[in-house]
Amino acid sequence: MSKVCKFLKENLEFYDNRIVCCGQGIFSDIENAKKYFIGINVDEYKNDFNIDEYLQKREQYIKMFQEAGEDEKNIPEFCQNCNCFAPIDIDDKLETKNFKFKNINISHKTICNCKCVYCCLSDEGNPEKIEILNKQKSYDIFPILKQLQDKNLIGEETKIGIFGGECTLYPQELNEIISLGEKYNCSFEIYSNGIIYNESIEKLMKNNKICLRISMDCGSKKTFKRIKQIDKFDKVIENLKKYGEAAKHNPEASLQLKYIILPRYNDNIQELKKFFEVALSCRAEQVILSINRFWLIRNQLKPIPISIKRIIKYFINNNEVNIIRNIDYNELWSWWVEKALKENWFTEVINSIFHIKKRD
Ligand SMILES: C[S@@+](CC[C@H](N)C(=O)[O-])C[C@H]1O[C@@H](n2cnc3c(N)ncnc32)[C@H](O)[C@@H]1O
Ligand code: SF4
Ligand code: SF4
Repeated sequence: MSKVCKFLKENLEFYDNRIVCCGQGIFSDIENAKKYFIGINVDEYKNDFNIDEYLQKREQYIKMFQEAGEDEKNIPEFCQNCNCFAPIDIDDKLETKNFKFKNINISHKTICNCKCVYCCLSDEGNPEKIEILNKQKSYDIFPILKQLQDKNLIGEETKIGIFGGECTLYPQELNEIISLGEKYNCSFEIYSNGIIYNESIEKLMKNNKICLRISMDCGSKKTFKRIKQIDKFDKVIENLKKYGEAAKHNPEASLQLKYIILPRYNDNIQELKKFFEVALSCRAEQVILSINRFWLIRNQLKPIPISIKRIIKYFINNNEVNIIRNIDYNELWSWWVEKALKENWFTEVINSIFHIKKRD
């Protein structure tokens, strides 16, 4: 059976200037997006998105995979040489009748109340870009979501991802998106910086299938301020505890705290220990290790610093294993892990990453 990329087959992703199947191959350039799917210039946009057009393109690209055989030149141009290709089977007959999107990811707004020094939206906290992002208009996604409903493209198997900017800054819209998802019994994946408490999210934490993922990246007030450039550590801890409390009796809710390794900011064990204390105190169900992708791109050819190796090792051997049940390394980039594998004494540590199981 032929293979196709999972993202192309399963996803619909809304960005500030494009509606596409993934954020990998079809980068933020509007013209590039227009070439393959839908590019959006907000000032000119007339709510003329047509889901049938999108589905036709999706089908056309899947067929290209189907017919490409071993020759990469025949797969869609935007997929060629993509690091994020995630192969899955193409069903023999392209399923279009009962098709539902598996992931609908919403990142159409760029507004935020933080200025994280690593933020991918603002090219690592570039002040000019932050200003633009915070003033940027966006488009109305509800007529599009209505089309998805009318065409039966949302169902129980759909996960609604809400990524941002910062979704708690548009509570009305967030609430409407959540209500729509609830109607179809969808699951949710919501990203937030945790500064503003949101009651619709709290309700999901009590009753629904949801991952709430918060990038903490530290365990102390001082480092929080350095990284996020806002003095809201205590507020975030207070909110995390409330979300953790809300999820207490719901086995399908997962509060997840992320630690993005940021060399020179948080690549020390003292900070990481405090992060684990925070995770425990707010009943986090999962902790996630990630790395600043810009740093990674700049440093991919250099040896991996010892401080980072120590962080990974600490994550693996952390003493809180009985309480923090899941540790996820998925956000460490696979090609970087491959590189790490080539460094001898580190092999053992990285190998064990892939053998880590869910901890009860
Ligand atoms: C752009 S943020 C928007 C959601 C929300 N404001 C937040 O910070 O969680 C989406 C995700 O991208 C992650 N992210 C942003 N910049 C990154 C970078 N340079 N490297 C790795 N992850 C990054 C954030 O940690 C967050 O989990
Ligand atoms: S191969 Fe890359 S560009 Fe193509 S759909 Fe998958 S993630 Fe997107
Ligand atoms: S909170 Fe999220 S969107 Fe805001 S600056 Fe930080 S990473 Fe970027």
